[in-house]
Amino acid sequence: MKALVTTALDPLALELRSVPDPRPRPDEALVEVHATALNRADLLLAVRRPVGSPLGLDVVGTVLRPAPDGSGPPAGARVTGLASNNAWAELAAVRADRLAVIPDGVTDAHAATLPVAGLTALYALQKAGWLLGRHTLVTGASGGVGRLAVQLARAGGSEVTAWVGSAARGAGLADRGAKVVAGYDAPPTGPVDLLVDSVGGEVFAHGYRLLRPGGVAAVFGNTVRAELRLPADWGHARPGVRIEYLFLLDEVTRRDVPAGLALLLGLVASGTLVAEPGLLTTWADPRRAIAALYSREVNGKVVLSV
Ligand SMILES: NC(=O)c1ccc[n+]([C@@H]2O[C@H](COP(=O)([O-])OP(=O)(O)OC[C@H]3O[C@@H](n4cnc5c(N)ncnc54)[C@H](OP(=O)(O)O)[C@@H]3O)[C@@H](O)[C@H]2O)c1
Repeated sequence: MKALVTTALDPLALELRSVPDPRPRPDEALVEVHATALNRADLLLAVRRPVGSPLGLDVVGTVLRPAPDGSGPPAGARVTGLASNNAWAELAAVRADRLAVIPDGVTDAHAATLPVAGLTALYALQKAGWLLGRHTLVTGASGGVGRLAVQLARAGGSEVTAWVGSAARGAGLADRGAKVVAGYDAPPTGPVDLLVDSVGGEVFAHGYRLLRPGGVAAVFGNTVRAELRLPADWGHARPGVRIEYLFLLDEVTRRDVPAGLALLLGLVASGTLVAEPGLLTTWADPRRAIAALYSREVNGKVVLSV
């Protein structure tokens, strides 16, 4: 089969190569891959893993052979899920307990936006707790996780402020439920009950200052890769504030992943969650897709058809 593999310690140097077919374990299904998506985590791994390594977390496809232990979706099911850095391939062995069946009406491209980004947004909001009647600030709201977090927070009954780089990056977010779409030139005002942050640096510091006593900062990224700073009165001015960090690949070890995916897929099927890809292209040209992600041109996820 063909797979996109690393050819140097450079994410732009991925290449389609012939590699041996996967040999699933007893708890893994063999999936014929139709689509996948790009995540910053994939690209971070691409500069750390040896040459020839497979990559890819988001998987959409058809089950060719169900898991030999009988668990998970049956043969022929159209599924999406979380692969183990092996989704950028024609065939992938995927843990059956990381897959969910895609309902009719949800396209492969829509489904491909959900596993990493959707579960991250969902679990981050769940860590924050009660959403109804609360005010949530989502940073990096133009991105793959951010656009879904805005909509899920709104669906949970929260008033939402989306923080993005520019008006163009915020396009469509008001229609998706953001009451305020703020830019870096005019930062959001508070108070807020919940900060959902993945940008880090000064963006995190500003958002933290807006938290009410008892509020929650749900953090899952530091895209700017800067030290996080808390204000001098970080504690006594905000009694009861919690900072929660979510690491998806750790979180899923304690979660019912198929149930989380089924919830997200159901919300997409009902029109409550709009999960359109910001860039839909083919895996044959990963360089263009990766460059678009890095240059902050993509509103939402980059989806690759396989
Ligand atoms: N902990 C976990 O398990 C986990 C899971 C998923 C994602 N993540 C991390 O969470 C972050 C968001 O993920 P994502 O998939 O939503 O990424 P994404 O689609 O690339 O979105 C990142 C957003 O951050 C904003 N941003 C602000 N400063 C930036 C900068 N200096 N460089 C690039 N972007 C900048 C961009 O919005 P503007 O251009 O509008 O400013 C962009 O939309 C990433 O760092 C990712 O690695 C972590």
